[in-house]
Amino acid sequence: MKKLFIKTYGCQMNVYDSARMAELLAPIGYAPAETADEADVVILNTCHIREKASAKVYSELGRLKKIKDERPLTIAVAGCTAQAEGAEIVARAPQVDIVVGPQSYHRLPEMLARIARSGGHALETDFPALEKFDALPKDSSPSGVTAFLTVQEGCDRFCTFCVVPYTRGSEYSRPVIQIEDEARRLAARGVREVTLLGQNVNAYNGEGPDGRVWSLARLLHRLSRIDGLARLRYTTSHPRDMGEDLIAAHGELAALMPYLHLPVQSGSDAILAAMNRQHTADGYRRLAERIRAARPDIALSSDFIVGFPGESDRDFEATLALVRDVNFAGAFSFKYSRRPGTPAAAARKQIPNDVKDARLGALNDLLLAQQEAFKRACAGRTLDVLFEKPGRRAGQAVGRSPYLQAVHVDGAAHLIGSIRRVAIDAVCPNSLEGSLAPDRERMLAH
Ligand code: 5AD
Ligand code: SF4
Repeated sequence: MKKLFIKTYGCQMNVYDSARMAELLAPIGYAPAETADEADVVILNTCHIREKASAKVYSELGRLKKIKDERPLTIAVAGCTAQAEGAEIVARAPQVDIVVGPQSYHRLPEMLARIARSGGHALETDFPALEKFDALPKDSSPSGVTAFLTVQEGCDRFCTFCVVPYTRGSEYSRPVIQIEDEARRLAARGVREVTLLGQNVNAYNGEGPDGRVWSLARLLHRLSRIDGLARLRYTTSHPRDMGEDLIAAHGELAALMPYLHLPVQSGSDAILAAMNRQHTADGYRRLAERIRAARPDIALSSDFIVGFPGESDRDFEATLALVRDVNFAGAFSFKYSRRPGTPAAAARKQIPNDVKDARLGALNDLLLAQQEAFKRACAGRTLDVLFEKPGRRAGQAVGRSPYLQAVHVDGAAHLIGSIRRVAIDAVCPNSLEGSLAPDRERMLAH
């Protein structure tokens, strides 16, 4: 039995892909290792979204080289940096044996066999998405109460700052039947909550069982009927692909959680246009209103980029104004990072780092205040909690609220895998504390 260690960087889709790689290699004799030090094969599943993310890969490769100098070790680089840099990785880090892109990792068994047989390097960075999903194993290893499920990959939006359309390729949606099959298998293994993943997930347009093109809303309706699957989420969405039927689905489907990640990136029309986002700041405000009209208790989260080329103080003020107007329950904000090959990297008016730092600080102050206010407003409310695992105290369990907040509840250890109404008693820095609410209300919990 050989030992495999996978280190995952970046987004949830990489988490999904890493799990699939582990499943792919288990039947051919690779058992999971706890650390790289005890592994025969190490896979770095990389992220390329910002410079920092891809720089991390090279420092980890330096560490792995030291291990490889001492004993045999196979090193594979997978994910988006593999796709973007390809053979350059081997040129810069010859200790790497395998470079495999996100659409080709189903070929890992064959690549590992090839280098074991004849040495050298193996490189695969094609885009046969169709082939990949068909080639992945159907029998997944046991999982927890929640799971990710990739329904769509790639992006055709071409925001001018973003590498994703180049690293993950053009949009591809898996057929409904294939997704439903995977969701049913997850439910049969005790999964209660599934998060549908896609780089531009709300642009989903896969083939339905009737041979027609189905939207994400239709897919969600279908999945909501699977026994045992109590909660559905999807991420990440583009404001321009938020269809009428998807907005309506938020009002129609109890299983669809009232927490939506809908990145806006900036609140300035000039910057939004330069980013090729194809909507205005007011367009986003109106969209948020329509979503809230369909599902009044929905909470929104977003991504922001500060210091995009040409961003003036006024543009940045417009971002703060949008944040004040919309009110976000969660957010990720980033300093603009120049990514090779993207249109914005070539723009002349790059913003100095100290300006980016100051803007990031100001934006984060505002966003954190909103997050705190949202969290504080949960105190005294009764929320549905899906219990996921034991807590630190005896008898305690930790679950998630509809808003993805961690909730600690005493005397709930026997409830792992189920959803209960919980009265929120206290707000802690990283979680909420609650107590089980009367059974009568449980009926509403699905
Ligand atoms: N610089 C900074 N942030 C970026 N993102 C994507 N590309 C860049 C970049 N070049 C951010 C966006 C996106 C999130 C996943 O990462 O906000 O929504
Ligand atoms: Fe990147 Fe998202 Fe824009 Fe696609 S929609 S290019 S993934 S930021």
